[in-house]
Amino acid sequence: MKNLNQQARFRMYNNPKLKLTNATSISSGQVAWRCPSNIALVKYWGKYGIQYPRNTSISYTLSAAHTDTFMSYKTLATDSQNGKINLAFTFEGKPQGAFAAKLEKFLNSLLPIFPFLSQLELVVESANSFPHSSGIASSASSMAAIACCLCSMEQQLFNTLSDETEFWRKASYIARLGSGSACRSVYGTAAIWGEHPEFAASSNDFAIQQTEFHPLFQNYKDAVLIVDRAEKSVSSRAGHALMETNPYAATRYEQANTHLAALVKAMQTGDMTTFIRIVEAEAMVLHALMMCSEPSYILMRPNTLSVIEKIRTYRQETKVPVCFTLDAGPNVHVLYPEKHAAEVEAFILNELEPLCVDGYWIADQVGKGPIALSEVTIA
Ligand code: DP6
Repeated sequence: MKNLNQQARFRMYNNPKLKLTNATSISSGQVAWRCPSNIALVKYWGKYGIQYPRNTSISYTLSAAHTDTFMSYKTLATDSQNGKINLAFTFEGKPQGAFAAKLEKFLNSLLPIFPFLSQLELVVESANSFPHSSGIASSASSMAAIACCLCSMEQQLFNTLSDETEFWRKASYIARLGSGSACRSVYGTAAIWGEHPEFAASSNDFAIQQTEFHPLFQNYKDAVLIVDRAEKSVSSRAGHALMETNPYAATRYEQANTHLAALVKAMQTGDMTTFIRIVEAEAMVLHALMMCSEPSYILMRPNTLSVIEKIRTYRQETKVPVCFTLDAGPNVHVLYPEKHAAEVEAFILNELEPLCVDGYWIADQVGKGPIALSEVTIA
């Protein structure tokens, strides 16, 4: 698979045979998935072609922050054809025009892979476990949930994805087309995305699961501190695009690949010092890249820096191995081993919670990946 060129790889799941015929026995059904968000330890920042990453990334899969997606389908009397999708979308019980339009465009782009979509009437309902205004990006969990639903639908209608490995690989591939980081959300514990010479199975097309870690790095905790709820001034998509003219881009991509190999090794051997050094460097570099892109922009807020300084001081004084990372926004992810949960959570309550908007933070942790929801209704 690795030697295929980009165009051929893009077509790797194209399958004109996935069309409903008179012989198809099912005419309606429902699929539903709960998919978690993820937090990158080595960041994907910069992309090319059809959602290919400029460097390898790795993330922990989360648990509490997730999206539930229910997809019902019914065969249309006549194929809508010519790339038309018949879709009704609601988010948390209400129509959501902006995401509906994005989803429709995405499903249209997937017609070569799932040609049966133009033969169906689709009703999609989605809900997040975290408030919309929390500043937490939902594209990874929502795109992963949609990808899982589409693969389940294919399996129900054609019985073509009964092999689990193949199911998850395809779900990851489809999720990547929706949002790059989403491809890592289909696997529990942690996932690596992007070709890397030290990981033979790694690929730019889909993520691979990574579970073999030292006990210190299993069941890791992530407290997501909401320090600002405002919509981001520059989207991730625009941020990725700015990497194309960033003068430090080439060095950065090389650094990410070096970081990835060293980080995975540290997580396997229990080397906490290296883990903290690399994870914090990744957060700082991501934001430094934003600050030195053209035009320059800043997504950190004053309280982002206050939280970072407090974490570093606390770590220095107590020797408790707590560190931070950031995604493309102002909120801080506080990472710590499960065995230090009591003292770190007391520290968060006393010193960091006052820096959060309305004292809001989410106690999350590494999770097991997507869960199929059968016949559950959104509360
Ligand atoms: C900083 O996956 O949101 O969170 O592919 O354009 O949808 P698109 O971007 P997105 O970028 C995520 C960037 C990041 C780092 C990461 O998750 O690896």
